[in-house]
Amino acid sequence: MFYLEYYFLWLTLSVACGNALLPANSNCDIENTTVRMVQVLFRHGDRANDVATVYPNDPYINETYEPYGIGQLTNAGKQREFMIGGYLFEKYYSLLQGLCKVNEIEAISTDMSRTKMSLLLVLAGLCPSRGTVFDWNKWLNWQPIPYNYIPFGQDNLLTIPLFYCPNYIKLYNNYLESPPGKQIQEKYKDLYLYLTRHTGMTINSTLDVMLIYFGLYCEVSYPIKRIFIIC
Ligand SMILES: *[C@@H]1O[C@H](CO)[C@@H](O)[C@H](O)[C@H]1NC(C)=O
Ligand SMILES: *[C@@H]1O[C@H](CO)[C@@H](O)[C@H](O)[C@H]1NC(C)=O
Ligand SMILES: *[C@@H]1O[C@H](CO)[C@@H](O)[C@H](O)[C@H]1NC(C)=O
Repeated sequence: MFYLEYYFLWLTLSVACGNALLPANSNCDIENTTVRMVQVLFRHGDRANDVATVYPNDPYINETYEPYGIGQLTNAGKQREFMIGGYLFEKYYSLLQGLCKVNEIEAISTDMSRTKMSLLLVLAGLCPSRGTVFDWNKWLNWQPIPYNYIPFGQDNLLTIPLFYCPNYIKLYNNYLESPPGKQIQEKYKDLYLYLTRHTGMTINSTLDVMLIYFGLYCEVSYPIKRIFIIC
């Protein structure tokens, strides 16, 4: 069984020793193990900056990133995702026996254009049709592989728990109120003030800083070369 879940690039491997499923780092002898299931978690490819990560004083606040569109996957991002698929194709060729069987692949995305597109590209890289029984079109080395996504607002599998999970939010706020949390707030107080002054919005948490960082990271090479980097 092959699970593709769209978020951060992360890979877990289960190997079977006899009948027992063991983690790959157990002391079961690797010689007698068989890969039964692979789960891969990965992130979307390079994208244009998004409305969630611009700030009021951002000089690129009105940028529309045409023709890609705000927050959308760029060609470099498409290339990166397709290559992840190619990497998985090579690494797990024997597990899949060179064939993507629809019943054996479960692919899940978050509810965003850039993540759905990324998942399609990974599946395209993982599941070429050429040379297989699924070779249905001599001009196109591709076959349709279905995927699902969890609608925005119902996704408690792949999105950030700070956006939906009351318990997580409570624990997060408890942490901010705790001595180590307060220590962090104190440590970055000057940075928060600096960012608040220059961004035109209230920055008072590490989460706020992370969002500003993402936005700047997206934009860093854009004004000079009109290119995007992963963000
Ligand atoms: C692998 O399993 C076989 C059959 O059970 C056994 O004879 C062999 O010694 C095992 N090899 C290792 C390296 O454990
Ligand atoms: C963005 O557009 C608004 C509304 O047209 C305008 O007032 C503002 O000056 C623009 N900002 C920048 C940085 O271009
Ligand atoms: C940050 O500021 C917002 C808005 O002023 C406020 O609601 C929130 O409680 C503040 N958070 C922290 C960690 O101080």
